Amino acid sequence: MKKIAILTSGGDAPGMNAAIRAVVRTALYHGIEVMGVQRGYSGLINGELFTMDRSSVSDIIHRGGTILRTARCKEFKKEEVRIKATKILKAYGVDALVVIGGDGSFTGAKLLSKLGVKTVGLPGTIDNDLSYTDFTIGFDTALNTVIDAIDKIRDTSTSHERVSIVEVMGRDCGDIALYTGIAGGAEYIITPEKGFSKEELCKVILEGKQKGKIHNLVLLAEGVGGAQELAKYVEEVTGIETRATVLGHIQRGGSPTVTDRVLASKMGAKAVEVLLEGKTSRVIGIKNNEIIDQDIDEALAIDRTFDEKLYKIANEISS
Ligand code: ADP
Ligand code: F6P
Repeated sequence: MKKIAILTSGGDAPGMNAAIRAVVRTALYHGIEVMGVQRGYSGLINGELFTMDRSSVSDIIHRGGTILRTARCKEFKKEEVRIKATKILKAYGVDALVVIGGDGSFTGAKLLSKLGVKTVGLPGTIDNDLSYTDFTIGFDTALNTVIDAIDKIRDTSTSHERVSIVEVMGRDCGDIALYTGIAGGAEYIITPEKGFSKEELCKVILEGKQKGKIHNLVLLAEGVGGAQELAKYVEEVTGIETRATVLGHIQRGGSPTVTDRVLASKMGAKAVEVLLEGKTSRVIGIKNNEIIDQDIDEALAIDRTFDEKLYKIANEISS
């Protein structure tokens, strides 16, 4: 293993920079050259590669976003485009590619490895929607950003005795809503995995009012529906003023938390170790607090599970 390349792909996530830094520094420590690829698979097929040294990753551990930039590249789904990518990697003398991204990016890596490219994936997404790993890089930071917003919304919601519906990201995964719902003391958590009934939600809100609750906080995962529409319905049915807040891309930025920086550093180092062991088509994860590597096909085939216990606790505490 003489030279590796690294790229970030799909939606960015805080901690991607810490992961890039860990991969670059670990590789250089072991005498491996590193090339950065700009703009994900898009940059790869356009030959946007450059040599990275230790100073290329100086002063980035605390920064959100990704210094390599990221992109969504639809053409990568075509085999002829992936073949072009393999030729570019060969022309630059690259022995292996490290991909930081979510399940889409991992699918791209999996298909590249079928064409003979050595690949290893690091889970970089705020959504925490990869089933083979307990946590993804960026999830913890996004949770903390959401909690900061919820605490502020709670203040004004209490002053006005309103219902607040806060819509968070996560695509079809409800983890951001679940974790921030429990940590933010939400009265109701709505996730794609559990679904919900609008009538039941209004009943809970009205019962809460009778019990003396002065505000109601509802956490809504984006995969279920829109907050504005739901707020209108809740206000009409309950007669309580209701406001919707869509947090949007604020959840994707900001300085990574200590948890994300440490996770990204451990996973980045592990990616290089795995390549040094001669393995390929692997993804790095964390299971029961242990950093693991797993076959990419196996990892992508695992069905996603929902933390039913946490959901139950959240419901009981908020009742
Ligand atoms: P994420 O990696 O965060 O899940 P996307 O689903 O947008 O984000 O995927 C990121 C990129 O990965 C896509 O723009 C594309 O370049 C590549 N990709 C996704 N799905 C496939 C696929 N089925 N085949 C090849 N490449 C894919
Ligand atoms: O996958 C990360 C994510 O932020 C999702 O939570 C969200 O649905 C999506 O990306 C938004 O994508 P875009 O940045 O293209 O609007």
